[in-house]
Amino acid sequence: MFYQNKNIIVIVTGSIAAFKAAVLVRYLIEQGAQVRVSLTAAGAKFVGPLTFSTLTKYPVLQDIFDQNDGQVLHVKWARWADYIFVVPATADFLAKAANGLADDAASSTLLASSARKIAAPAMNDQMWENQATKRNVKQLKKDGWLIIEPVVGFLAEGYDAKGRLPEPEDIILQAQVRLLAEKGSLKGKKILITAGGTREALDPVRYLTNRSSGKMGYNLAQAAAEAGAEVTIISPKSKKTAYPLKQIEAVSALEMFDSVKKELKNNDIFISAAAISDFRPEKFSSQKIKKNGAAGLTIDLVQNPDILAQAGREKQNRFIAGFAAETEKIIDHAKAKLVSKKADMIIANDVSRSDAGFSVDTNQVTIISKKTVKKLPLMSKLAAARKIIDEIAKELD
Ligand code: PMT
Repeated sequence: MFYQNKNIIVIVTGSIAAFKAAVLVRYLIEQGAQVRVSLTAAGAKFVGPLTFSTLTKYPVLQDIFDQNDGQVLHVKWARWADYIFVVPATADFLAKAANGLADDAASSTLLASSARKIAAPAMNDQMWENQATKRNVKQLKKDGWLIIEPVVGFLAEGYDAKGRLPEPEDIILQAQVRLLAEKGSLKGKKILITAGGTREALDPVRYLTNRSSGKMGYNLAQAAAEAGAEVTIISPKSKKTAYPLKQIEAVSALEMFDSVKKELKNNDIFISAAAISDFRPEKFSSQKIKKNGAAGLTIDLVQNPDILAQAGREKQNRFIAGFAAETEKIIDHAKAKLVSKKADMIIANDVSRSDAGFSVDTNQVTIISKKTVKKLPLMSKLAAARKIIDEIAKELD
């Protein structure tokens, strides 16, 4: 876990979003971090120190003159920290940090520390758009700060605009992805991933599909983003993600085929994790098909293009990986797909297991390349995705 055993100071400044900092502190602790909180005077007007000292089991730093065993506390804390999160960060606090002001315990801790700094600003939308704030944020980025931008949402002012603090778990995850990406094994690479089950329309209300949830594909997207790659994902339905991701919606196999064709040339790596329907109804009925007392209904199906095989044919220098969803002779069938689809890697999963493959959060995969066969134990889809991305990076090395 990324935050395991990390020393983290959370600075809480004076915004209505300060209450969310308590949840953030709790998540960091749950992820194995040692957390201490410094509250500014304005922050303490929104949330009391007792909340944070109870969560962290540590006194909250509020006074610049606080000492412990004759040592100035903010300097001691500054040396202890691996990361300093400022959540929420007000426009005023950002201005202070950008200019190196240190007139209270929180800003003095920041100035005295070489820890990596992460700020999640939250404020009125006009304040966020103000040239002075923009200048300060630009300066902080230049100084190496990670800025988790506010999101568009309902503000305390009573309307929707950009200025809202992202949810605490999104702040933590975005920081994790972006920090890992800085030294990632796929830095500078562009990766295209397909995810989810395609839908083949029969009439305006019915379609043929499968049990794919898109989880494997989206976990691969996270693992690839953590590895520093620029990620594009094509799936039937976009998902909200904590980190930046280019998402393209393609519902049917034909739409996915067109989108992959368009995007492939811009990417160095392609992973086909989508469960793409092999067949589609020959005819789409523009009106809802009626029972009309008929005893049965026959639907003629025609074959869809094989997207992975097409990508294999247009391979050039691209790394191509596919999945094999198998129920028997898993390795043999997957090896056959490696050859027939001209892929560099096939990830075989036994979809007959109830804890692997479609819809569940875990998977048991075997990574097959031209050189190696690596059978992995059952693990979360995210852990499996990270292993797959590691293997791809090794193959590219
Ligand atoms: O989405 P989840 O619920 O997390 O489930 C994950 C998963 C089980 C869908 C995933 O791990 C997986 O196995 N995806 C591939 C499913 C599949 O279609 O397998 P296949 O053996 O039928 O196809 C082999 C490969 O060809 C796959 O990479 C597939 O994306 C690709 N293919 C298949 C048909 C087609 N017309 N075009 C293709 O490109």
